[in-house]
Amino acid sequence: MSERTALVLGGTGMLKGCADELLAQGWQVVLPSRRPDGTLGSAAKAALRGRSHVPHVSRAETGQQGGQRVAVAADWSLPRELADRVREVMERPADLLVAWVHASYRDDVLQAVAPLLAPHAPVVEVHDSAAIRAVRGVPDPALEGHPTQQVVLGFVRHGGKTHWLSHEEASVGVLEAVHRALDGRPPSVHQVGEVDTWVMRR
Ligand SMILES: NC(=O)c1ccc[n+]([C@@H]2O[C@H](COP(=O)([O-])OP(=O)(O)OC[C@H]3O[C@@H](n4cnc5c(N)ncnc54)[C@H](OP(=O)(O)O)[C@@H]3O)[C@@H](O)[C@H]2O)c1
Repeated sequence: MSERTALVLGGTGMLKGCADELLAQGWQVVLPSRRPDGTLGSAAKAALRGRSHVPHVSRAETGQQGGQRVAVAADWSLPRELADRVREVMERPADLLVAWVHASYRDDVLQAVAPLLAPHAPVVEVHDSAAIRAVRGVPDPALEGHPTQQVVLGFVRHGGKTHWLSHEEASVGVLEAVHRALDGRPPSVHQVGEVDTWVMRR
């Protein structure tokens, strides 16, 4: 059984590598998303095929060190339902929250899952620099009482063109923030890639 639980919101897209690394390190990784089966391997998908109903929860034991991925069907637009579904699968309060949540849902979703966190559990909030620009700077951490590392994902300049960070670059940057969080480092804001300077003002 995993001894540490991480709740990762938005962890099945470009931050899948981050979730996979936590799994490989033996964490129970709880992943709410609208399409939970998208996170499963082919064996787990085959086991689900032919069922008459779509379950809210799909479990797949894939970590080499006893880690467990728990994919949960949930939508940010229904934050209380999301929290209820996550509560059903958590073996204990979460020791870590990683949140890559669209800015318009961020406060409601983070407040809804706050009761599922262990006291003082660290939080890593991931922001898109374009969203930060729209709200004129990095917001204060959403959850009081939880030391928060904030990460702003920027862009990469290459040959006169700019493009998004690769999924790996984004995952590596967020994992670095996870390590800062787990090491008990003071709350901070870091950028990954290039970000307009004024966007980082708080
Ligand atoms: N600065 C950057 O580098 C940057 C910033 C933004 C985007 N991008 C690029 O743009 C691509 C698309 O970005 P993206 O914003 O779609 O990120 P993404 O990380 O690829 O996917 C979003 C994540 O959030 C989940 N999600 C989305 N809406 C949800 C909802 N309503 N309820 C619950 N979970 C939800 C998704 O799962 P479900 O879909 O299953 O719900 C997925 O896990 C990325 O792959 C990346 O390459 C780059």
